[in-house]
Amino acid sequence: MRSIFLIISSLIINIGLQAQDISFPAPQIEGGMPLMEAFSKRQSARSFSEKSLSNQMLSNLLWAAWGINRSEDGKRTAPSSHNEQNTVLYCALVEGLYIYDAQNHSLVLVTKKDIRAETGTQDYVKSASLNLVYVAKGDSAANWGEARINAACVNAAFIAQNVYLFCASEGLACVVRGSFDGKKLQEIMQLGTDKVSVLAQSVGFPAE
Ligand SMILES: Cc1cc2nc3c(=O)[nH]c(=O)nc-3n(C[C@H](O)[C@H](O)[C@H](O)COP(=O)(O)O)c2cc1C
Repeated sequence: MRSIFLIISSLIINIGLQAQDISFPAPQIEGGMPLMEAFSKRQSARSFSEKSLSNQMLSNLLWAAWGINRSEDGKRTAPSSHNEQNTVLYCALVEGLYIYDAQNHSLVLVTKKDIRAETGTQDYVKSASLNLVYVAKGDSAANWGEARINAACVNAAFIAQNVYLFCASEGLACVVRGSFDGKKLQEIMQLGTDKVSVLAQSVGFPAE
């Protein structure tokens, strides 16, 4: 009976997901390092090992970063200005570029190209197994005023700090980055006119 239930729930969860999307196991939302210890270990690190992050690690990381922590109203682990939740979290992995879909807790494929190297201007970027690109979404990004752009950057920064603390807790290396070629990313990531990249972050296992 239990196994039939599990099969049916997994079918329901996977409706809407395409074959090349990545469906995650549920995030493990208990445990981890005590918060004060994580603060004491938070740091930027720029040397990464080749080893990929497991789907469970990605599941936990993305949930901690920008997952839904109050299912009753769809609110998230990071705050957002006016609760607009208009930060789109792009994940550049060796398998391709994906968008984190918090509702389905999955990754939606954008392109199968490995664009990790293109998400930054520094050499270490290509060696991180995950490069996050924080993209702000609006009606027409070209018309945004200063306040809107500031809010977009602050929204992204909250998520980035969640990632820092998760990495500290899990012994992962990570560094947030302002150095990337926005124009180039606009094209490679197919952002269109309603989205702008505002911040990036490299994550991976530390170099041995
Ligand atoms: C908005 C912002 C942009 C940053 N951009 C870069 C960057 O492009 N490349 C980089 O290697 N580090 C970047 N950093 C990381 C800082 O260099 C780092 O946080 C600082 O040296 C302090 O080190 P810590 O994070 O270990 O405390 C950035 C940090 C912030 C907050």
